[in-house]
Amino acid sequence: MSCKSALIAYYSRRQASAIMARAALSRSFFSRCFLIPLSKLSHRALSISCLLSLCLAPAGMAQTGQAANADKVRMAIDVSQPGAKIDRNIFGQFAEHLGHGVYEGIWVGTDSSIPNTRGMRNDVVAALKALKVPNVRWPGGCFADEYHWRKGIGPQRVVTLNPNWGGVTEPNTFGTHEYLDFLDQIGAEAYLSLNLGSGTPQEAAEWLEYLTTDQPTALGKERAANGHPAPYKIACLGIGNESWDCGGNMTPDYYASQLKIYSRFVRNFNPAQQGKEQMLKIAVGPGGNEPRFVEWTEEVMKAWQKHQWSWDMHGLSLHNYTVVHWDKKFASVGFGETEYGQILKNTLEMEGLVSRHSAIMDKYDPQKKIALVVDEWGSWYAPLPGSNPGFLAQQNSMRDAVLAALNLNIFARHADRVRMANIAQMVNVLQAMILTDKEKMVLTPSYYVYRMYVPFQDATFVPVTFDAGSYTHDNITLPRVDAIAAKDATGRLWLEITNLDPNQSIEIEATLAGSTAKSAAGETLTAPKVDSVNTFEAQNAVVPKPVSATVQGGKLTLKLEPKSVTVISIGQ
Ligand code: AHR
Repeated sequence: MSCKSALIAYYSRRQASAIMARAALSRSFFSRCFLIPLSKLSHRALSISCLLSLCLAPAGMAQTGQAANADKVRMAIDVSQPGAKIDRNIFGQFAEHLGHGVYEGIWVGTDSSIPNTRGMRNDVVAALKALKVPNVRWPGGCFADEYHWRKGIGPQRVVTLNPNWGGVTEPNTFGTHEYLDFLDQIGAEAYLSLNLGSGTPQEAAEWLEYLTTDQPTALGKERAANGHPAPYKIACLGIGNESWDCGGNMTPDYYASQLKIYSRFVRNFNPAQQGKEQMLKIAVGPGGNEPRFVEWTEEVMKAWQKHQWSWDMHGLSLHNYTVVHWDKKFASVGFGETEYGQILKNTLEMEGLVSRHSAIMDKYDPQKKIALVVDEWGSWYAPLPGSNPGFLAQQNSMRDAVLAALNLNIFARHADRVRMANIAQMVNVLQAMILTDKEKMVLTPSYYVYRMYVPFQDATFVPVTFDAGSYTHDNITLPRVDAIAAKDATGRLWLEITNLDPNQSIEIEATLAGSTAKSAAGETLTAPKVDSVNTFEAQNAVVPKPVSATVQGGKLTLKLEPKSVTVISIGQ
């Protein structure tokens, strides 16, 4: 079977079970609707369309109904009821050896005419620094389960194959040291994915010894000879990737046995990481809506609940892409309002998924010691015409900006359990922050959302209640608005509001209980069309612009443009 047909087969299977899963999901959404006490709904909320949009709205977000499509949306922000910390790690990135994600996107090599620092392109590094990227997951993805780290160290790099992605060769010129140098340059922490599929516990254990020992062992000396005498810090370690499919098609039971072995023997020896800064081990968790993943979460969490001193884990991963049809993916540009609505409806399924797996985790871990780590998420569209289909190259539009904001808000609302997430993928692949073409670089609408959300990193969640109303097009009903608020370390309040309606602007009136704020200012990201994009030629089609808001008598008012993402800072 060719690499391309293997991939098609892989995703057709996924799609088949996703159809069954979607049926199960809609049943669970409806039961949630009817479980909500009627007292919580306004008298006009009982229309079918309102119930539908309530089903789609993230739990704890909004009650749909009363003011359904009134021009004004009222919000109440209660600063006196702070919630969990929004861990900065939910703004993590993912860089796989896939297409131009690493080669050309980050690494151009020291001989390149593209300005670079030790092989890393300077324009990309500078752009990523502005995002304050907390961590970057590497080297995969499916690639990780075929990655042998020794091929990517030392002066002689061997050329291998990348059978997962496009059937191209892998030069191994970007290896362990280059990855860690890149992280240093952008100021991010390491999130390494181990090869559990085709590797061995010994290979993985030696990788970690090579990276982290401060002792004069053969591996420690080899690292020093390769230019890094001091031990590296590895903040997070992924124990496998999608071990239920491309990572070895394991059963939950088999995976749990592997997890125990790798967790036990793959040690971090860095003296600085023996206490508070210990390396976090992330186990493979569920992927998407398929029913089999409920069992997966149950089994892994059950194994952890009974764990002995000899092994441990700190996170369970969750993968979920926004795709309507795996076998007929949507275009990333050149689409209309119907595809806008379908994609956003699909992306809001993240809420049900996070809630369902969090509830299972609560059974085994009521103290929420284990984080839910959404370490692959984002939009997955049809490959750009003319590109290698295995490179997963796509454009990034205003629709992706709204999609990014909706997902980040879901993670923030679940901040007590979701403490890390990684959008797929950072440069040139899927829902990228940055696109490059040789010496050219362009920042995507998703990039600007991440830049606007920087103040939410490590801020404390503050509840916002509002009536979301609804927006309907072509039988698809979505909440009209979404919002989160948080207080940063200096006490400043931040509010994000997304207007999903691509046609209508919205007046917002928010009461600020427990705040003495007197001023507000912010930025908004919008565009003429749902599929507006930034290109190498027209870089500023979708860029944030200043937005004004007023605060008077404890009330904030502002106007949201259609299809917009807005972040407001509220202070003295
Ligand atoms: O992000 C692309 C691929 O999607 C990853 O390699 C894999 O883990 C997932 O299926």
